[in-house]
Amino acid sequence: MGDSIEKEWQNVNKLEQGIKSLEQNIQSLSNDSLESEDDPELNELIAENTKLKHRLAVLNKAIANERQQSSKPLDLDSIDAPISIIDHLTKIFNVAIATAFPELPSPPEAAVVAGANAKFNDYQCNSSMQLAALLKPIYAAKGAKPPPPRDIALKIIENLPQTPLIERIDVSGPGFINIFLSKAYPEKILNSFLLNGVQPPKHPKKRVVVDFSSPNIAKQMHVGHLRSTIIGESISRLLEFFGYDVLRLNHVGDWGTQFGMLIAHLEDKFPNFAKVSPPISDLQSFYKESKARFDSDEEFKKRAYNRVVKLQGGDPTTVKAWTLICDVSRKEFQKVYDQLDITLIERGESFYQSRMESIVKELTDSGMLEDDDGRKIMWGVVDHSENDIPLTVVKSDGGFTYDTSDMATIKNRLEEEKADWVIYVTDAGQSTHFKTIFQCAERVGIIKPGVHRIDHVGFGVVLGEDGKKFKTRSGDTVKLSELLDEGLTRAMDKLKEKERDKVLTPEELKQAQESVAFGCVKYADLSHNRTNEYVFSFDRMLEDKGNTAVYLLYAFARIKSIARNCGGEYANNIKEVARKNPIKLEHEKEFKLAKMLIKFPDVMERVTKDLCLHYLCEFVYDVCTTFTEFYDSCYCIEKNKAGEIVKINASRVLLAECTAQLLAKCFYILGLKPVSKI
Ligand code: ARG
Repeated sequence: MGDSIEKEWQNVNKLEQGIKSLEQNIQSLSNDSLESEDDPELNELIAENTKLKHRLAVLNKAIANERQQSSKPLDLDSIDAPISIIDHLTKIFNVAIATAFPELPSPPEAAVVAGANAKFNDYQCNSSMQLAALLKPIYAAKGAKPPPPRDIALKIIENLPQTPLIERIDVSGPGFINIFLSKAYPEKILNSFLLNGVQPPKHPKKRVVVDFSSPNIAKQMHVGHLRSTIIGESISRLLEFFGYDVLRLNHVGDWGTQFGMLIAHLEDKFPNFAKVSPPISDLQSFYKESKARFDSDEEFKKRAYNRVVKLQGGDPTTVKAWTLICDVSRKEFQKVYDQLDITLIERGESFYQSRMESIVKELTDSGMLEDDDGRKIMWGVVDHSENDIPLTVVKSDGGFTYDTSDMATIKNRLEEEKADWVIYVTDAGQSTHFKTIFQCAERVGIIKPGVHRIDHVGFGVVLGEDGKKFKTRSGDTVKLSELLDEGLTRAMDKLKEKERDKVLTPEELKQAQESVAFGCVKYADLSHNRTNEYVFSFDRMLEDKGNTAVYLLYAFARIKSIARNCGGEYANNIKEVARKNPIKLEHEKEFKLAKMLIKFPDVMERVTKDLCLHYLCEFVYDVCTTFTEFYDSCYCIEKNKAGEIVKINASRVLLAECTAQLLAKCFYILGLKPVSKI
């Protein structure tokens, strides 16, 4: 449904543009004809004018048809996926405005927003005031007084296409249009969630590459990589939920001159490495040792350079040494991925060696590279200013750089992988790098504007509780695996403090511990606006009040227990209950909860647009608090004094279960593992 309206609107826009240019033509033709009455070509012009007017009439008719299409009432029976309410309302208000005020050549998009207080409205359209200002000069030209915003509002309402989403509309203040939703749509869509699972809003399929995590071999995976890992995983899950084809890439730093010294050092320390795997337990110290030799020993340095050449040339023994070194880091990284439930395909910088060679050739051939003291550079914009920084595509020693590798990644992902959309998740410190890469890729025609979507998803630094860059007490970078272990210990302490160890089985307790520990780390990251810095504090993350993972996990378990406590079909076959006895919204708080739940598609759209997961975190929190309000005033189950169930309100239990299922979907995207007992 959403798609077809979308297409119709695109048609209307195209037609309107056509009309505008025809009108301009007609205008200039009529001016010409006035000035040149004796012109022998006058007749021809008049004929041309008539033809244009005829085409204009045809186009106008086509527009009217398209409008009628958009204004066809939404058919509730045919809705098979949740729709974005803001989108739907915006579209029908666009139609209403265009129909009510044909004198406006191109009316602005209707300003529809969600209301803050259900007493006054659920949604509101604030366009009347803006339209009044736009109509003023048009009326003035005719010597007339423009209508006041209130009358404009009434006229918009008069022309509003029918929709089963709206129950009633009124006008308040100077001309605010207040929209009150009907119960029919939420009843229908929430019940369908129970029958068919929680569905995403409909979108045409896309292929997306998400580059995230991307730590560097032989170096510590730090909290910056932790952020990239958490955010990238959630973005991938979100886009997969939409049904997109997502390629999750781990762009590990596994290439470059530092591998020459690592390999040379390996040859000396473990001459037998080709046969017996070297027991390097601490790759960081291994790195430090080889770096020290590299800096002080000329002979070693020479050999290190030679190993880089051998590695790039594909010499088998050297490649073997390189693989062994990479494997050590790989195992370390994998531990973190396993704990955090991260799925990734490793495609490191080495993958792009031959592609870097060809992109350099392509850029050279197309004359994009400039010589700068022996370096080959490329500017993102031709008319660059002093503040612009060019890419260094080839160093003066002929070597490639991080810039070269990212010119290769963008080409590979758009052209070989045929992605429609490419996302890079790294710290905001790299935003200039990516901005220039994207500009250069557009200059050479790799990125096609209007066809491809490219995002650098940047994020702020992680701070310690002292407000300074996150470090251990001794000032070292924090080891991620140790950090996660600390999370486990803290989570268990918290559960014991709440005496959960006395009610849960050892297995349940372990599940709860992991869910809380890893969930709180992920959620603390995602619930902050990613562009800001955030303070890493276990104490804060583990609080059970406010918008924290712990609060949400408890809330979820409570909601989930409602259907379970009813037993029978409620516990074992909720679909059957929904089929026999669909959700019926009666109590005011039931309706309030339902209206919150159906905001889901709007939230998803917003998250997708900005790639900011904190909107989804705010939503799940709002859902939980609205649920509490509902649960406090609406009995789902009534029990007698003996604690036996005497009455079950089926619709309310279904509403609770629907809330749980929707939350479960959001939790999955946010990387929270819900547990039914905690
Ligand atoms: N390895 C890089 C770092 O640690 C991140 C790589 C991000 N991906 C990319 N295609 N540049 O900063």
